[in-house]
This record gives sequence, C-alpha cells and structure tokens, in this order.
Amino acid sequence: MYDKIAEFYDKLGWKNYPERLWKHIVSYFKEINFNPRTHLDIACGTGILCINAFKAGIKSEGLDISIHMIRKAIENAKDKNMDINFVQEDMRSFEMNKKYDLITCTYDAINHLLTLDEWLMTFSNVKKHLNYGGIFIFDCNTLKALRERWNGFHMQKDSNGNYIIQKSIFYEDKGQASATFTVFTRRDKDLYNGFEETFTEAAFSSKDIIDVLNKVGFTEVSITNMEFKMLDEPDEEYRNVYVCK
Ligand SMILES: C[S@@+](CC[C@H](N)C(=O)[O-])C[C@H]1O[C@@H](n2cnc3c(N)ncnc32)[C@H](O)[C@@H]1O
Repeated sequence: MYDKIAEFYDKLGWKNYPERLWKHIVSYFKEINFNPRTHLDIACGTGILCINAFKAGIKSEGLDISIHMIRKAIENAKDKNMDINFVQEDMRSFEMNKKYDLITCTYDAINHLLTLDEWLMTFSNVKKHLNYGGIFIFDCNTLKALRERWNGFHMQKDSNGNYIIQKSIFYEDKGQASATFTVFTRRDKDLYNGFEETFTEAAFSSKDIIDVLNKVGFTEVSITNMEFKMLDEPDEEYRNVYVCK
C-alpha cells in the first residue's frame, strides 16, 4: 500500500490537504488557547503535517505503515533541515514509549482500517499515548462520501500535465469502497510514467464512531468541518473532523 504512489504523492498535489488543514488547526488552537509542545502524526504519509508543526516550534514525530511514505517524509524533512523522527509503525499497534500533547491522523487515513474493531484498537492506542489535557484530531470520509464520491469514474489532469484516473466502486452492504488509481506522471514533453494502485476505505456512522471513542475514554468529542465549525448533521457531509479529549 502506498508503495508506488509515495514518490508522486506530493507532486500530484495531495500534500495541499495537510498544508491547508494545518492552517485551520493553528487558528483553532488560538481560539481555544491550546499550545501543544509535542505532537505525533499517525499515518503521517510524506510528513507534511509534522513539517508544519515543527515549523511552528512543536516537537513533532510521525509514523506510517508504508516504508516508502516514511522514506519520502524523511527526505522532505531533510530538505528543510528539520530533525523530525519518522518511524515505520502500524497505527493499530504502535508503541512510542512516551506521551504527546497532540496526536493527529489526517486525510482519511483512518478509513484505511476496514473494521470498527481496528478503529477501536487505534483510538485506544492513541488514548494511551496522549498526555492529560491532550487533544486527538482525526478526519474521515463519511459513508455519504464513499457512496457518492467513491463510486464511478473520474479523470483529472493537473497543472503539471499529470493524469489521474480513478475507478471506484462502493459496496453498500460492507460500507466500503475500493478505488483504483491509474496515474500517468509526465516525464518529458510526450513521455509519461504510469502505475496503478488500489485502495479500500471503510466508513461508519458518526454514532458508531462516537461510541467507540467513548469506549476507549474520550469523553468530550466534537464533530466539525475542516474549519473546526461544529456540524449539526455530520452524516450528511462528505468529510468530518473529530476533536477528541
Ligand atoms: C491518504 S494518506 C494520508 C497521509 C497524511 N496523513 C496526509 O495527510 O497527507 C493515508 C496514509 O495512511 C497510511 N496508513 C494506512 N494504514 C495504516 C496503518 N495501519 N498504520 C499506519 N499508517 C497507515 C498510508 O501508508 C498512507 O501514508
């Protein structure tokens, strides 16, 4: 998973999401007067959120199951002369032997876990690694997103001339969607490198997710949009951000 795409993840513009989200996180923390000193990003991908947190003076670390994404994260941090610890770990079972003020899991990384039991294992592990008074923020695709946006065929050409073809199918009975991305990255004027990767995501109702969060000890949970504005009907949105204390 994320083996072939790691090299192109940032170039395809997918790094823009964590960049944008970090700006909203900063504004939100100002609003609630929260000043984390330590941060762990689980499923950190190419390390963009960690790099932004580090820039803001926070001691940040990242973990990801894909060694290819971890290598890219290390390269990205090195390019910026940042000393950030990135490790290959599974978010369901990681052990960092320390606690953090802030833990994040972004860009629907949690949806890659296909059963609610695996979400529970991850949340329980996060809770164990969170300092008293700490905050866990994650975002996820809703069932509505998988049903309506991960079902069908999309083709996109970005400003660098790269093509991304997404063929996806939603399985209503399982609440899961599988998407195959065929990517042609522009190597030269009319020369392209092509590769294909398939991802499967699962989504659950906000009620099921809150139940699991409560079960592992998160007693204060807010469901917001990306700008951290509370949502009245989260299941009617495409993406939810959970703020858990
Ligand atoms: C869509 S990317 C998001 C990356 C990053 N969080 C971001 O905002 O750009 C999903 C990431 O989840 C990672 N991932 C999937 N399952 C994982 C697991 N069980 N433990 C740790 N990382 C996982 C993938 O390797 C991939 O880097």
